[in-house]
Amino acid sequence: MKAAVIEKQGALENLVYRDWPDPEPGPDDIVVRVAACGLNHLDIFVRRGMPGLPVSVPFISGGDIAGTVHKVGDRVDSVQLGDRVLLNPSSEEGMLGETLPGGMAELVRSPASHAIPIPPGLDFDIAACLPVAYGTAWQMLRERTTIEKDETVLVLGASGGVGTACIQIAKNLGARVIACTSSEEKGRKLEALGADDVINTSQTDFSREAWTLSGKKGVDVVVNFTGGDTWVPSLKTLRKRGRLLTCGATAGFDPPTDLRYIWVRELSILGSDGWTTAGIRELLDEVAAGRITPIIDRVLPLAEARFGEKLLEDRAVFGKVILRP
Ligand SMILES: NC(=O)c1ccc[n+]([C@@H]2O[C@H](COP(=O)([O-])OP(=O)(O)OC[C@H]3O[C@@H](n4cnc5c(N)ncnc54)[C@H](OP(=O)(O)O)[C@@H]3O)[C@@H](O)[C@H]2O)c1
Repeated sequence: MKAAVIEKQGALENLVYRDWPDPEPGPDDIVVRVAACGLNHLDIFVRRGMPGLPVSVPFISGGDIAGTVHKVGDRVDSVQLGDRVLLNPSSEEGMLGETLPGGMAELVRSPASHAIPIPPGLDFDIAACLPVAYGTAWQMLRERTTIEKDETVLVLGASGGVGTACIQIAKNLGARVIACTSSEEKGRKLEALGADDVINTSQTDFSREAWTLSGKKGVDVVVNFTGGDTWVPSLKTLRKRGRLLTCGATAGFDPPTDLRYIWVRELSILGSDGWTTAGIRELLDEVAAGRITPIIDRVLPLAEARFGEKLLEDRAVFGKVILRP
């Protein structure tokens, strides 16, 4: 088969489209013919290497995988050949695309128990947007906290995969949403997506602007997966007893903090990691019912995986990039 292979950890040129041996299923596994694989910032981190995330190279990343069942293991009776499935990439064995070979390939092996049927009429590209980005946003806003109607939720990095998912989910929960993004063009798209207010972080101090927008009371919830120099301003943006949700640190995982805001305002810092099969099933239902519309920036052939990752690195994406083998 063909795959986009990380030959060694580092820059984009280490991602090479080439031949790779076909995977075979173990007794409880399936092999899926990949129809669509969604890119995530995680794929950048896996390629570049992160402290605590050693990857044995060569390796195939890609965790958001939709396709058809191509082979089944001897003990598998939960799915049939030809079934249309979306994979929950995270299993007891590890994570597809992070510790186990992922979906930036024509074929991928997965435990059969992690195959979720795709509802009729819902296409592979849309399904492949869901597990990592939408699953994480779903867990943050529905499991790690409860968003009350009319609460104000501020989302940083709002134009990306997790960001656009958070905007849609928070709006559906009845929140007033402030979207923070780095360009005017992405800001206009976020307004069209339903954001009530947009702050251009390349021109404005988002904390000061959000404070004003909140009538100088502070916002109820900040979603921050950026870290770095956005961390302390996020604390300053919150009202007394506000909640800060964090699931990542695109701009740096060890920022300085300011403890005074945490104790004086009695803030809650809520970490969130990953998603559940139940959450992915609920998201498929939400999409099939038209309540959530995953945002696809563009669909690229798998052979152009390197270009897709460059777009993410350059912050030139609105929503998701999908790769098709
Ligand atoms: N723990 C988990 O389970 C989990 C799951 C999914 C994702 N994550 C993490 O969440 C983060 C976002 O993931 P994603 O796949 O949504 O990424 P993405 O699609 O690349 O979006 C990230 C957004 O953040 C902003 N951004 C990008 N680079 C930045 C930088 N250096 N400094 C400040 N802002 C930057 C950009 O938005 P603007 O240009 O609009 O500002 C970009 O659109 C990543 O750190 C990822 O690892 C964690």
